[in-house]
Amino acid sequence: MKAAVWHGRRDVRVDEVPDPVVREPTDAVVRVTSSGLCGSDLHLYDVLTPFMTEGDILGHEPMGIVEEVGSEVEHLSPGDRVVMPFQIACGTCYMCSQDLQTQCETTQNRKTGMGGSLFGYTKLYGAVPGGQAQYLRVPQAHYGPIKVPDGPPDDRFLYLSDVLPTAWQAVAYADTPRSGTLVVLGLGPIGDMCCRIALHQGVEQVIGVDLVPERLERARARGVDVLDFSEHGDVADVIRDKTDGRGADAVIDAVGMEAHGSTAAALAQKSAGLLPKKIAEKLMTTAGVDRLAALHLAIDAVRRGGTISVIGVYGGMTDPLPMLTLFDKQIQLRMGQANVRRWVPDIMPLLTDGDPLGVDDFATHHMPLEQAPEAYEMFQKKADGAVKVILHP
Ligand SMILES: NC(=O)c1ccc[n+]([C@@H]2O[C@H](COP(=O)([O-])OP(=O)(O)OC[C@H]3O[C@@H](n4cnc5c(N)ncnc54)[C@H](O)[C@@H]3O)[C@@H](O)[C@H]2O)c1
Ligand SMILES: [Zn+2]
Ligand SMILES: [Zn+2]
Repeated sequence: MKAAVWHGRRDVRVDEVPDPVVREPTDAVVRVTSSGLCGSDLHLYDVLTPFMTEGDILGHEPMGIVEEVGSEVEHLSPGDRVVMPFQIACGTCYMCSQDLQTQCETTQNRKTGMGGSLFGYTKLYGAVPGGQAQYLRVPQAHYGPIKVPDGPPDDRFLYLSDVLPTAWQAVAYADTPRSGTLVVLGLGPIGDMCCRIALHQGVEQVIGVDLVPERLERARARGVDVLDFSEHGDVADVIRDKTDGRGADAVIDAVGMEAHGSTAAALAQKSAGLLPKKIAEKLMTTAGVDRLAALHLAIDAVRRGGTISVIGVYGGMTDPLPMLTLFDKQIQLRMGQANVRRWVPDIMPLLTDGDPLGVDDFATHHMPLEQAPEAYEMFQKKADGAVKVILHP
């Protein structure tokens, strides 16, 4: 089969690789029809190079048609239309029973000290081959795959794999009072969807911050009060001006480790990319190489007693943080990978009963899998108005 394969920093190619097969009774094999590109893939494309292995198959936002199931997979049959959560969880362990599927004790990566395995997400998370491919082996398929109805186009359901539950969790963790103000930093697919969900849930004021004109415009068109980060000296001041001088009730950081505006850390990330792999890995896991501009802005822009919901991915082990301010402002900090199955029952009615979140035309680009190299480059450069790119094997 064909698959998008990581070969090195900013080097993704479409290779011929062996077809996956059912190996465990809890496996399924799915023929992939659509597969999203995520901001998290961009970290792998560049900054997280030290954790990648040449030959890794990328992708964690796939959907498709079940081809084959193992003997213990009872809720699926060949021909079913399914969406795979980006994480692999068993559904029965202690963590899964607490709806913390990303911490699944069956798939936890104890050797690397990380949580549950993820599709296409480095050796830290189990080195599981990803879904930007013609076929995907789905471990723990007795629990993971979400069956979706036939009829609407793939785009209606695809985002159940990641974007929708991720944004849903970010908004839930932010816990903004209805009459309050939510600030969303970053208007990529995740931040954009956070804004849509918060507005849909009735949050009175949603302020979105980014610096890419098309992304700002997209959010503005859906009723978000947008701020261009590059036009304001101090965005937190502007936010305070809009909130009686107090700051926002809640801030979502939907930017993560590659924020603009962190010059020193950007340099450190660049240098890490040039070091020998082992040394770079050591640097990444022992030092603070996150670009923290967005998180610092969140800490500044949130009101005293407010909540910061971090959904952007961070990877440094010793990041310096302003603990004095965090403590003194009495800030609640909540974060983590999204627990996909936890939120699916809440989201599904918004997909089967009309399209209030606008998922049908959320993607800006649909491309054949063969063009994965171009897709990665375009998405990273935010060229051609790319916000959400879907690959079709
Ligand atoms: N926690 C999870 O389960 C989960 C799931 C999916 C994605 N993510 C993470 O969420 C983040 C966003 O994902 P995405 O797909 O939307 O990615 P993206 O890279 O398309 O979006 C990030 C946006 O942040 C903007 N930005 C950069 N610096 C900024 C700053 N200082 N202030 C405000 N905006 C800034 C960029 O212009 C960009 O539009 C990534 O870190 C991704 O890894 C987390
Ligand atoms: Zn993702
Ligand atoms: Zn589990």
